[in-house]
Amino acid sequence: MLSKDKNDLITLTGPGTPGGKMMRAYWQPVALSRELAGDVPLPLRVLSEDLVLFRDAEGSPQLIGRYCPHRQVDLSFGRVEAGGLRCIYHGWLLSGEGRCLEQPGEGAASTYKDRIRHPAYPCFEAAGLIFAYLGEGTPPRRPQFEFFAADKSSQVWAGKLHHDCNWLQAHEGNVDPQHLSYLHRFMSQAAALDPRGNALVGADVAPTMEVEETAYGFRINTVRAVGGGAKYIRVTNHIMPNCGSFGGVPLFDPATGPTPENAGYQLHFHVPIDDATHWKYTMLFSHERPLDPDFLTDKLFAEQKSYYSRRTHANRYLQDREEMRRVSFAGVGRNFFDHDKLAVESQGRGPIMDRSQEHLGTTDKPVMLLRRLLLQAVEDVAGGRDPLFVERDGAPNGLAEMRVQVIVETPATELAPA
Ligand code: FES
Ligand SMILES: [Fe+2]
Repeated sequence: MLSKDKNDLITLTGPGTPGGKMMRAYWQPVALSRELAGDVPLPLRVLSEDLVLFRDAEGSPQLIGRYCPHRQVDLSFGRVEAGGLRCIYHGWLLSGEGRCLEQPGEGAASTYKDRIRHPAYPCFEAAGLIFAYLGEGTPPRRPQFEFFAADKSSQVWAGKLHHDCNWLQAHEGNVDPQHLSYLHRFMSQAAALDPRGNALVGADVAPTMEVEETAYGFRINTVRAVGGGAKYIRVTNHIMPNCGSFGGVPLFDPATGPTPENAGYQLHFHVPIDDATHWKYTMLFSHERPLDPDFLTDKLFAEQKSYYSRRTHANRYLQDREEMRRVSFAGVGRNFFDHDKLAVESQGRGPIMDRSQEHLGTTDKPVMLLRRLLLQAVEDVAGGRDPLFVERDGAPNGLAEMRVQVIVETPATELAPA
């Protein structure tokens, strides 16, 4: 349970709010690379700010305020030109640094343009995502994910899915391993995408969780006793402030053979559009083999190709009671992303969940820690200090200790010599 005041601190992220300042202390994904093609500007709303993204002459992403500083025309209808983005109304030219380079109507001798300051935020592009820093002062070092390396680019895939709820309730699902035993269960192994995993999460619905705080957030070791002395252990992570990492998506087309265990992992970033909606950016990473973007985009995530699910609150997520009897516990198809979307969008239908009404149990231990770390980060930023996992040059890479793993430990392996 959380008081309204504390709930507000970590759910409201608009400009000037304490939670907004905390979220702005970190680099955030703002778009997929494939959304930003050629010379077509892309309108965005991030943390309740209206922005426009475009590529400069070198192809580098530039992020500036969406409305022209002259008389507020939408710059996403503008023309990308050498030097920046030109408003189509009276031709003012805005650079990616937020300078006004030309005001054709003012005459060549005018210095008025030099006094214009337009919102502009630094960006970088890696692994199919465009990240931006919307905070004040010097941006921290870019996060050092292993898949940002250029030679890993074929081993990463990125996608996104719109969510009709506040970011935090969705991210709390990332640190809630017990729900795998219910929300994502299939009624028979034949119906499951991963029959072995389905049997294992069903074998113990009251897992024990060991939570370890780390330089990036925390790690959860979730242990299920799955019979015969065997243990099913899932190692997953919270990465400050709005990212989770874990195993679980079939990385390769099952038609070409089963995905080897621990072949890679996925990350979910929950980035507020505003306080009532957010984008869930998903990254899939394969340790060794290249990924097949056609399989991932056209088959596995075919229904989410438009970045919106056809299952919404308005159509009750097309929940099917017959399917619930025979196929899946939730009755909303086989895609885990739809299961999660239903659960988190429906929480205290608000769209910001009222956490004063909940009754947390022992399996919510990681959720409690997540809120504590976020509240601490809000306090740190308000006090002028760098929060957890804001890394500056020279600091060690906190992500070096991140581990994502699935382990089935049998009594025989426990006894085997090291
Ligand atoms: S409104 Fe953009 S140049 Fe006038
Ligand atoms: Fe889930």
